[in-house]
Amino acid sequence: MSILIKGGRVITAADDYTGDIYVEDERISLIGESLDVQADRTIDASGKYVLPGGVDPHTHLDMPFGGTVTIDDVESGQTSAAFGGTTCHVDFIIQPQGSSFADAVEEWRGKADRKQVIDMGYHMAVTDLKEGGTLEELASLPDQGITSYKLFMAYKGALMVDDETLFKTMEVAAETGALVMVHAENGDAIDVLVKEALAAGHTEPKYHALTRPPETEGEATNRAIQLARVAGSPLYVVHVSCAESVEPIQLAREKGWNVWGETCTQYFFVDYTFLERPEFEGAKYVYTPPPRDKANQDVLWNAVRTDTLSAISTDHCAFLWDGQKTIGKDDFSKIPNGGPGLENRLQMIHEFGVRGGRISLNRMVDLLSTNPAKLFGLYPRKGTIAVGSDADIVVFDPEKRVTISAATHHSKSDYNLYEGTEVTGSPEVVLLRGNVLVEGDELVASPGVGQFVARAKFGQELRAAAAVA
Ligand code: URP
Ligand code: ZN
Ligand code: ZN
Repeated sequence: MSILIKGGRVITAADDYTGDIYVEDERISLIGESLDVQADRTIDASGKYVLPGGVDPHTHLDMPFGGTVTIDDVESGQTSAAFGGTTCHVDFIIQPQGSSFADAVEEWRGKADRKQVIDMGYHMAVTDLKEGGTLEELASLPDQGITSYKLFMAYKGALMVDDETLFKTMEVAAETGALVMVHAENGDAIDVLVKEALAAGHTEPKYHALTRPPETEGEATNRAIQLARVAGSPLYVVHVSCAESVEPIQLAREKGWNVWGETCTQYFFVDYTFLERPEFEGAKYVYTPPPRDKANQDVLWNAVRTDTLSAISTDHCAFLWDGQKTIGKDDFSKIPNGGPGLENRLQMIHEFGVRGGRISLNRMVDLLSTNPAKLFGLYPRKGTIAVGSDADIVVFDPEKRVTISAATHHSKSDYNLYEGTEVTGSPEVVLLRGNVLVEGDELVASPGVGQFVARAKFGQELRAAAAVA
């Protein structure tokens, strides 16, 4: 099957030109001006942007968490991603405490079996190096294409690790060429604040934020940066939400240390006041770190513009409001933490980042595709439009008007964080390795088209043909 994408405005992190793209055998084989080639199918992209497929480095599909399981499994989550122009993501395997890493990998691969709509890789969330996985086993993961380790510095009594586990994992990463990712919040201090709030009878959703002040994020970010320096490992701080965390990352990067950070779409749009919405509606916005004071939104826009923060993910961790979030109706600490968002990252960042004059189109591509691909060992197979790269391509209509709503999204969640937001610009055709996934409002491909991608080690490039179905 060959496809010719004709006359679109091709935008990568570095380039912006009008041209044709020829796709053969799942890869881009020719790029040029007015290509004279025969194709099985021609897509007229005149007046459209032609973008590399989005790479979302932070999602949670089919994950047990907070006394329940996230509502989107691999099929519904990836379908939602495809409609939003994301063609590859990296999900978290959570090592169950007491379990080996091999068992955890097998369990998570099983969840994806025959359900994959887009390509995916995995990070390994390390929860237990005492009764569960060994350091040797952890060290073997990068050779299996799982080239990043994640540690939760919060969620005491659940996923949180102590500094010993964090530091030992960093040492392994320094040896094996893995990237260390941290959820940076001081879980011990937060645990004290949560208990104090509940003892005082404070049960509403807003106490989720009031018991996780920004200083607890700043402290943990600082701690992780300093420990990574000692261990000699690269560090990536996930879901940065506030100035207290941006500042140490900025300092580290100015010093030339191997530190990167991401923020997520929701932190630009949802602020603390959303948690105060009546009738338990605030629970929709209970995710961690929590929505912050609005002043942080400009800090984050500035950070992504200046490369203090290098990626925007969704941290898609979807629950039903009615039936799952309600577990915490009488106790904010029991509300499952997380929100949906896989489908709307490109629309929202295009509307408010690019059309809002905050970042360029090239920088948008960098943040949503190229940088995540580079940091997580997927580039140049993913994250760009170049000869030899996978034909993961979004034909984006910059004039299409859409009102974002749970009534039309493809996640199984019964609410949308951006409900009612009007955007101009949306994906029209989405290709995964040359397979048309989405055309207008239709999912054209069947589950099973997506593949597991064995990622390259940190700092190394990934070339074609490393995928395993
Ligand atoms: O609230 C969130 N972010 N849920 C997902 C787990 C995590 O901390 O990333
Ligand atoms: Zn987290
Ligand atoms: Zn997360």
